[in-house]
Amino acid sequence: MGDQEILLSKEKETLLGPLYCRAREAKKEDPILEDKKALEIFEKMKYDFSKIKMPEKSCITLVIRADKIDQYVREFIADKKQVTIINLGVGLDNRYGRVNPCNAVWYELDFLEVIELRKKFYQKPDNVHYISSSVTDLKWINQVNSTGEILIVAEGLFMYLKEKKLKELLLKLHKRFPGANLVFDAYSTYTVKNISKHVFLRKTKAEIFWGIDDPKQLEKWGEGIQFKEEWFFTEYEDIKKLSFFYRLAFKAAGLSKIARQAHRILYYKI
Ligand SMILES: C[S@@+](CC[C@H](N)C(=O)[O-])C[C@H]1O[C@@H](n2cnc3c(N)ncnc32)[C@H](O)[C@@H]1O
Repeated sequence: MGDQEILLSKEKETLLGPLYCRAREAKKEDPILEDKKALEIFEKMKYDFSKIKMPEKSCITLVIRADKIDQYVREFIADKKQVTIINLGVGLDNRYGRVNPCNAVWYELDFLEVIELRKKFYQKPDNVHYISSSVTDLKWINQVNSTGEILIVAEGLFMYLKEKKLKELLLKLHKRFPGANLVFDAYSTYTVKNISKHVFLRKTKAEIFWGIDDPKQLEKWGEGIQFKEEWFFTEYEDIKKLSFFYRLAFKAAGLSKIARQAHRILYYKI
């Protein structure tokens, strides 16, 4: 344990879940996700991680989520001269370091306390810009000076928003950045009803509000919003890296629509 005190609560404290999972994965010989920075940050923290009790199954999902969203970002930047990436609810994630883009203007948004904490662990490259704001306080959008095509990423964020606020956000993004790409992970409404029992949420007191069953529902929020892709964790290509038990569990989950939809990644053009 390090000496950096962590004084976060509720949805801000939830950033410790994925950080812990990425750090734990980084210790493995053949990890799903290479993220030594997560381990470095984890070791500097003075925080009792046993309190949030991240089960192995949740950790596997969270590192796969990060890896898959990294893939979307890499594919997006691959064939373009200049792009803008907007990473909402960035927490202490090291996506910029993992993807290492040379053609991106990169924005990272989170609450002020989180961005201040982030500054203690990261040296910010010149093409990275921090935005300290709630994502629902829409004035932050004026801080974005975009260039080229835009990809907006929201990993582990939208479930913490009420639908009214999320709709306002998406419509504002749609108006300000028409044609931008948007990738995020989402729970089903069934998951939203049942997930509050998760120890992690009970301990942090974070509340989950939003879920979606039919991804096409979002198209009704505004003309021009287009649903592109729904990606299920059970489709993960590198499944051989999982233990026999989890390979079997993923195969079984893939057979049930409710299990597949419980948590997945959605891609839109807005
Ligand atoms: C589960 S963590 C995910 C963090 C990061 N994306 C990752 O994968 O490690 C949720 C993050 O969303 C942020 N968050 C939640 N609600 C937010 C809001 N209204 N505005 C800005 N950030 C928010 C939290 O502060 C936290 O950093």
